[in-house]
Amino acid sequence: MEHIVIAHRGLSGIAPENTAPAFTAMAEKDVQWLETDIDITKDGELVLLHDNSVNRTTNGRGNLHELSYHDVQQLDAGKWFNPTFAGTTIMPLTDLIQLINQDHLHVNFELKAVFNSDDQNLAGVLLQKFTEALKLIDPASEIIVSSFNPKLLAQFKALNPATATAILFEDAIPTNWLEVAQAVQAEYIHPDAAFLTAAQVAEFTEQGFRTNVWTVNTQDKASELFSWGVHGVFTDFAHELTFQPAFI
Ligand code: G3P
Ligand code: MG
Repeated sequence: MEHIVIAHRGLSGIAPENTAPAFTAMAEKDVQWLETDIDITKDGELVLLHDNSVNRTTNGRGNLHELSYHDVQQLDAGKWFNPTFAGTTIMPLTDLIQLINQDHLHVNFELKAVFNSDDQNLAGVLLQKFTEALKLIDPASEIIVSSFNPKLLAQFKALNPATATAILFEDAIPTNWLEVAQAVQAEYIHPDAAFLTAAQVAEFTEQGFRTNVWTVNTQDKASELFSWGVHGVFTDFAHELTFQPAFI
């Protein structure tokens, strides 16, 4: 069985998350898989941002859905991490796609955006533009699209039936996990490492799902998870972790 180590928000342990430096460093460190969070500006540009707001990871303030792409491009998204990254900007999806094609990377796109009833229209724009953007990726790249939001994931799958998808679970696995995963037609389960048990991984596998676990920042934990039969781990230190199952 093939196993993967996925750079969570890029090499976010050594560079500002979801920015160009976190992704460009992958090739030189021989890391093939990345995870990134996709969201949308108020004027419909797809960008990479984990939080609803720009407050934590830039020198600006405000919710992404209320900022224009022009506003967003003025922000520094590197200095908060380390002054050596000053001048780094929030990355548009189109730039990441160029890098994916250039460096032959594999990707888990997480549809992060949380939409309230006022911006359902923005959710539709995101799905439509994201679907178009995926067509620009070299078919040799493997792609998984994930979300915590089953509704968004089901809508994505309806538009892209041939693309592999993953349902994300935070905290404990819900008792109705199988119903949710089947309803959205996911191929993967992406559970939270903190709450996962070996028995649950066995159940996912038995039901035909592959399991990729977040966020795993030590080799010991990664090795334990691989020995449980997980397919992949998300880590902020993908340049350091390897596939080494623990001896049990
Ligand atoms: O996609 C795996 C992981 O990124 C999910 O959690 O909060 O880091 O986006 P979060
Ligand atoms: Mg994520």
